[in-house]
Amino acid sequence: MSPASSGVHIPDAHRVPSTDQLDRLRAGTRMYDAVIEEVDGRRIRIGDHWLVDYASCNYLGFDLDEEIIEASAAAMRRWGTHPGWSRLLGNPSLYPQIEERLTELLGAPDTLVLPTITHIHMSVLPALVDGGTVFVEANAHKTIYDGGAYARGLGARLYRWHMSDPDELVRLLRSADPDRPRVVCLDGVNSMTGNVPDLPALAAICREHDALMYVDDAHGFGVIGERGGDESSPYGSRGNAVVRHCGETYDNLVLIGGFSKAYSALLAFVAAPTAVKEHLKLAAPPYLYSGPSPTASLGGVLAGFDVNAKRGETLRAHLYELTRRVLDHLRDLGVHTPNRHGTPVLELPLADGYDLAEVADLLWRRGVYVTLAAYPLVPRGQVGFRLQLTSAHTHEQVDALNAVLSDLASRHALRPAQP
Ligand SMILES: Cc1ncc(COP(=O)(O)O)c(C=O)c1O
Repeated sequence: MSPASSGVHIPDAHRVPSTDQLDRLRAGTRMYDAVIEEVDGRRIRIGDHWLVDYASCNYLGFDLDEEIIEASAAAMRRWGTHPGWSRLLGNPSLYPQIEERLTELLGAPDTLVLPTITHIHMSVLPALVDGGTVFVEANAHKTIYDGGAYARGLGARLYRWHMSDPDELVRLLRSADPDRPRVVCLDGVNSMTGNVPDLPALAAICREHDALMYVDDAHGFGVIGERGGDESSPYGSRGNAVVRHCGETYDNLVLIGGFSKAYSALLAFVAAPTAVKEHLKLAAPPYLYSGPSPTASLGGVLAGFDVNAKRGETLRAHLYELTRRVLDHLRDLGVHTPNRHGTPVLELPLADGYDLAEVADLLWRRGVYVTLAAYPLVPRGQVGFRLQLTSAHTHEQVDALNAVLSDLASRHALRPAQP
């Protein structure tokens, strides 16, 4: 324990080690812990400085959509600003409407919604693991790992495996207790690289070993979807997430997703059979003990389904086109990004030894707002920044972004593409 002010102690185990890089970012860039004072389309104002926002994950632009804003306001006029009950105590009829429409969209057996994905990882995952073994992919989102660690605290065993080595997963599955549940966790569209996993191959391994697959597609839901002849982009249609995108089924698989990215609303879901859903209503504490999503989010999600049905394919086509333009530009510049699948999540690692604070300063001055990835918040080899495109960006904004990326490349700040 280390002493802190006012007698409150900060346990060392939870302290992010201070590094020169982090300290200089904290001191020097206004992109760290920023206070945003105004929003105008995809532009944001911090102090008196306007920047184009590439840090939000509002992939479909629903945060700015007039139809959705109106529907959220109408829901609040009817239901008040906040339902106030936990779900078990009282479900405004918005909930069953959302679950019915979501189940149809996903083509899933059933769905249960809770406020956030973090709630789901901390409650549904331990309930499904039930003292068995949980296998978390090494690059899966931190919140999945936290859910696994919580399950471990309740008696489960926790292992990490690597997407690049499926044999490792097979070995681990073989060595686990076959009489207890085995749950294999991974990201759908990966939150850093934007890549889509080989779900059919991994599902085959899990089914062969009678393990449950637990897939978090926070970034894929709303963006990628089922493939078919008349799709408007390689993202596929309907934005109904990674399972449908990969032509997979929900056998031995639960899909987790959220509305807080593409649908711009505070709500998340687990897609699972009805018997599992009913079990989770008591086994997953947030259904009884946590406060609900705000009415604006519930109304916004229902309106989001309508907008997705009417205009989703046009929005995704625009999103894909913008993303493709940035990816093509990076390729022409000879700059590396791990993104291989054209999704709107672009990680840009810096060239070895290049100073992140210097890059942050240039991005700030040129009006480009990004997520900075500093050591030790990411491993040293991944230090850089991440950009997300959304369908509310414009071609002019992408022209300006590409010009800034050219500038960074000419300074040799960005990691060169691997031959
Ligand atoms: C892959 C992934 N899972 C989970 C989360 C957390 O989602 P929520 O805010 O709904 O808890 C995020 C948020 O960034 C994420 O990227």
